[in-house]
Amino acid sequence: MKKYLASQLFRRLAVSAQVTALTLGLAAWAADSDNSPRQRLLMDHGWRFHLGDDWGLAEKLDKAGASLGPAARSFGDAGWRKVNLPHDWAIELPFDSHADANHGFKPVGPGFHKNDVGWYRRTFSLPETDKGRRFWIQFDGAYRDCRVFFNGWLIGHNESGYSGFRYDITDLANCGGENTLAVRVDASQFEGWFYEGAGIYRHVWLLKSGPLFVAPDGIFVFSQFPNNVPEGPATVNLEALLNNAQTNAAHAAVAWEILDPQGKTAARAEQSQELKPWGAEAVLQQAEVSAPFLWSPESPNLYKLITTVTSDGKVVDRMETEFGIRTLAFDADKGFLLNGHPYEVKGTCNHQDHAGVGAALPDALQYFRVRRLKDMGGNAIRTSHNAPTPELLEACDRLGLLVMDENRLLGSDAANLARLESQVRRDRNHPSVFIWSLFNEENQQGTATGARCAESMQRLVHSLDPTRLCTAAASEGDVFEGVNGVLDVRGWNYHIGSEDSYHKKHPQQPEIGTEQASTLCTRGIYANDKERGYMSSYDDTGPGWGNTAEAWWKVYAVRPWLSGGFVWTGFDYRGEPTPYGWPCINSHFGIMDTCGFAKDNFYYYQSWWSDRPVLHLLPHWNWPGKEGQDIDVRCLSNCEEVELFLNGQSLGRKPMPGNSHLQWSVKYAPGTLMARGFKAGQAIAEDKVETTGAPAAIRLTADRTSIHAGDEDLSVITMAVTDDRGRVVPVAGNLIDLDLAGPGRILGVGNGDPSCHEPDTYVPAQASHKIALNEWRMKRVPNTHRRPEAQESFDDSQWDKADVQTDSGPLAPNESAVYRTRFAATPEELATDSIAITIGMIDDEGWVYVNGHLIGESHDYTSQPSFEVRKYLHEGENIIAVAVHNWDGPGGLNKGVALELQDKPEAVHWKRSAFNGLAQVIVQAGKDAGTLHLTAQADGLAGTSIDISSAVDSSQPLQP
Ligand code: GAL
Repeated sequence: MKKYLASQLFRRLAVSAQVTALTLGLAAWAADSDNSPRQRLLMDHGWRFHLGDDWGLAEKLDKAGASLGPAARSFGDAGWRKVNLPHDWAIELPFDSHADANHGFKPVGPGFHKNDVGWYRRTFSLPETDKGRRFWIQFDGAYRDCRVFFNGWLIGHNESGYSGFRYDITDLANCGGENTLAVRVDASQFEGWFYEGAGIYRHVWLLKSGPLFVAPDGIFVFSQFPNNVPEGPATVNLEALLNNAQTNAAHAAVAWEILDPQGKTAARAEQSQELKPWGAEAVLQQAEVSAPFLWSPESPNLYKLITTVTSDGKVVDRMETEFGIRTLAFDADKGFLLNGHPYEVKGTCNHQDHAGVGAALPDALQYFRVRRLKDMGGNAIRTSHNAPTPELLEACDRLGLLVMDENRLLGSDAANLARLESQVRRDRNHPSVFIWSLFNEENQQGTATGARCAESMQRLVHSLDPTRLCTAAASEGDVFEGVNGVLDVRGWNYHIGSEDSYHKKHPQQPEIGTEQASTLCTRGIYANDKERGYMSSYDDTGPGWGNTAEAWWKVYAVRPWLSGGFVWTGFDYRGEPTPYGWPCINSHFGIMDTCGFAKDNFYYYQSWWSDRPVLHLLPHWNWPGKEGQDIDVRCLSNCEEVELFLNGQSLGRKPMPGNSHLQWSVKYAPGTLMARGFKAGQAIAEDKVETTGAPAAIRLTADRTSIHAGDEDLSVITMAVTDDRGRVVPVAGNLIDLDLAGPGRILGVGNGDPSCHEPDTYVPAQASHKIALNEWRMKRVPNTHRRPEAQESFDDSQWDKADVQTDSGPLAPNESAVYRTRFAATPEELATDSIAITIGMIDDEGWVYVNGHLIGESHDYTSQPSFEVRKYLHEGENIIAVAVHNWDGPGGLNKGVALELQDKPEAVHWKRSAFNGLAQVIVQAGKDAGTLHLTAQADGLAGTSIDISSAVDSSQPLQP
């Protein structure tokens, strides 16, 4: 039985769809678009962060909207560190040999309580004109167990460290004023056995719409062809899930416009729908695109769907959705078919982890990594072992990489199914996603229970997405019991040698290599070294459960029914140091290191996965002391024949065996080892390794020298240590000092050395000192509302002196008082970065005034409030007043009050050693446009610099 997809599964669409001709005018459309109330605002900037759970319980379970500590609206976070998202606090911590090896020896998680909880806070205003709109806060992912508070209300609890989550905040939003978002992130538990980071490591968005709107993730678009073969016009199925959040019924007209990759209108369609008050309806339609430009990794043609909703002649919503037209199918004999043709998957599995930044990858780094994988000849990625960030999918759509989109866990409990559903709804428009993976290597994968769970999950996915099949990354051999017997596509994790017998027994089931290889190699190292934790890069060592690159690919390359597969992994990642532990802190499985620098295997895959001529010689040729000894020389190439020369002398020409390599034993003599590759007798490629001189200079090369301003975009800069002839010294380990001038920052540094314990990132130290405020006067007052006693000019000279150092104050239950003190500010003090008033205890509630301005409130006597006051202070005498109300027991202003003056963050001295000649620095643009000037210097080497220019880009609206 052949398995062709969409025709079998798709039954949902209204057949009576009316397709509107292409000829409607465009002008009105474009003009109307500006009037849509929809906005998607990036909330990455302006957060405050505190590491440590230094307050009591934030949730108040007996009353709504009265959360405590940092969750309270009035909490003062002035002393907290300023951070931008994405942010990973685990990467900032030093390595610790007692911490979990699988998580990269970072002191977070079980046993490291003080680093487990991070608090994030951010305030933002909403204009008065937003009244009547709807609002959501959307998190693309945070590690992990988040409690989210908005304006003092607990709005959600999300445990997953990988799923996106979104909360409707419409009822709580303060239009025409300030709003406060506080997030408690608890990373005390692990979800995986690899480095997972800690914190809000993906984007946060503010979504706005009108009251008649397309639901979040409510657009679904997919194309179909008769027989699932892309011939003739494509039928594009359109779905918009409309919501009417109004007390009146509404008539909504949905108009869809499809723009082709050149931006020309390719099709239009319309449909209208009556919506009940507070009703929701899916509006379905079809359109036809003739002679479509098909999407594939080689030609990532993207269409744009513009969905416009009008009601009573007004545009009420408008959304743009990128999609691709292509067909997917799996055939039990031919393997995976893309656009009707067998298509070998040349993929890699990858965790979200990169040098310098950990799990917090800015979008530009996703694009960088996708480009590196494509350079290698890869055409696919598996988002192991969790839901990806949407920007990775966007990069794959745009640059062309197929995606196996993976769910974290096996399970058909409501929570797991809900997470799976939201992942499918979020990701199903991406043309890059070609298959869903339901889990990775589960203990129950071989059981009947596991099979039932997988079936339920698969059923759910099919109901949401009629265009794709499901697999799972099962670490099993010739086993059909359990999940393998129920899944659309059999996924193979390892177990080379079992495929043929399985295929023979189950000839109707399509198959794919979900995870293979796990080869152990360290970049630039040619002998295993337990002490330093390095593995030879000769592709000789797979772990017990895995294989070398050559061993698995030789099997898969000649078995089309296996559909190709995914290598574990494209990039090294922190954690899982294998086979050695400390001092090794990251894995060696990558075809590239944590920076994306190629190991030798990169060229093995490039040889057999890409179309271009490839020729790569290894090892390097710097072996002083080994003169006359045999060196194992290998050549990775797709040329038909290769001839090797040492210092001009031919060492022979050899035919290249398919999917393999060539090998020579060469007596070492310094100089030049050169290889020449031939096709049909013609020389088509050359490579050489040379004995270099000593390190003499640094060369900087940027992946992009023009980037966007706006605190998001970045340039990935390679630092190469070269000899005096500009040749990279393959054993150099010089420590490179860095300095960046201009509007931007260094985000992180790395070098791919799996045993390097130098910091990837430096958190600027901020010195602070406290000035105690001890001289207070106090007067009891009948209430705390708008007290004239809090005004600057009030005369308190006759009031009693008050001691604010005590543990409990003088107020009886239900008594109120105003406390006042004076502070004489000098110009030097006012020049500091921030000045916060910190109060040991306001028992029970208090309102804090500086020179008559209300600057903060406290409603929780345990919260130790702290409020930024600098902008309210002036040179000379300032008046600070606190109106306190005590509810029960003794109360008052207690445990001391001080001003905390924070100096400007100290300039950080960034540095990183090269590892085998190379290191990486990631430079991020600041808010403003300008030139970022990076200087690199090292003792004894000629320093150098590079300029990166950043220009304003307004394409990504930010929430100020
Ligand atoms: C696999 C597992 C991966 C990783 C790999 C190392 O079994 O799925 O997450 O641990 O082994 O080889």
